[in-house]
Amino acid sequence: MNRYSDELKARFDVELGDGEAPDDPWLRQVLTRRTQRRYDSRPVPEALVRLLLAAAFSASSKSDYQQASVIWVQNRGRRDRIAALFPDMPWIGTAPVFLVFLGDARRLDRIGELRGHREDNGTMEGFFNATVDAALALQTCILAAETVGLGTCPISVLRNKIAEVADILALPDKVFPVAGLCLGYPSQAGFISMRLPFQATVHIDTYSDSQLAEAVDGYDRRRDARHSIKDRQRDPQRFGVAEFYGWSEDKARQAAAVEGAGFAAWLAAHGFTFDEP
Ligand SMILES: Cc1cc2nc3c(=O)[nH]c(=O)nc-3n(C[C@H](O)[C@H](O)[C@H](O)COP(=O)(O)O)c2cc1C
Repeated sequence: MNRYSDELKARFDVELGDGEAPDDPWLRQVLTRRTQRRYDSRPVPEALVRLLLAAAFSASSKSDYQQASVIWVQNRGRRDRIAALFPDMPWIGTAPVFLVFLGDARRLDRIGELRGHREDNGTMEGFFNATVDAALALQTCILAAETVGLGTCPISVLRNKIAEVADILALPDKVFPVAGLCLGYPSQAGFISMRLPFQATVHIDTYSDSQLAEAVDGYDRRRDARHSIKDRQRDPQRFGVAEFYGWSEDKARQAAAVEGAGFAAWLAAHGFTFDEP
């Protein structure tokens, strides 16, 4: 029996298929989760933030190296300086709580020094492991927050002004933001953002994207029927006005614009060689 029909329809517009699957309310909540960018004025108690951080740092960690760190930005001046860098994302300044999840490749270097086994963790391996740890902590925090009725919005746009953000947060070498996280009680219901079908994302035994075009076309149409973005075409001067403007046209246009310029150079100037270990 399929007990997740409504949730799967909302997220993918598909059925789970036959077979047993345990009925779990938390899974239903994950399937219908959504990013929230508007929050009401109700404060988030500090103890609750600490609880969410405890959940975040309970995420699994590559080799138990524990290379995630978080800055909880409490100082209004620092918060305003960050928010002022990104005026088209006002939720950075207005969310009741703002955290920044950091990849922290520095701590392992320092531990090596403390124990007298110096090593350089600015390799590709060090960067990658720290990034993954921070991302896992971020998503665990998101799910924990949503479990207790909070809304969240990750903020990777911080990396677009990395030098300014690093200065405001006094980041040392080998410590970099993976994303900020806005937290607060949502003031709106929000909406469920549909995801690509398994046909595009789940591969059995070997990788194959031979059905990508059909999968994406179908997804574009289903998503458009639910929530059309035809009146919000990106950069029509450069790309023209599309007769059918779906998710894939929007993402192809978005990806064609430069984003994150300067991040690689900033990392290279701040301790990362990206060498083989
Ligand atoms: C790593 C990461 C960075 C993100 N950065 C931003 C951001 O800078 N600004 C923003 O408004 N949303 C940001 N988002 C939210 C995504 O836009 C959102 O997750 C996506 O549109 C899917 O929507 P959903 O989470 O409601 O399913 C980010 C999400 C992730 C995972």
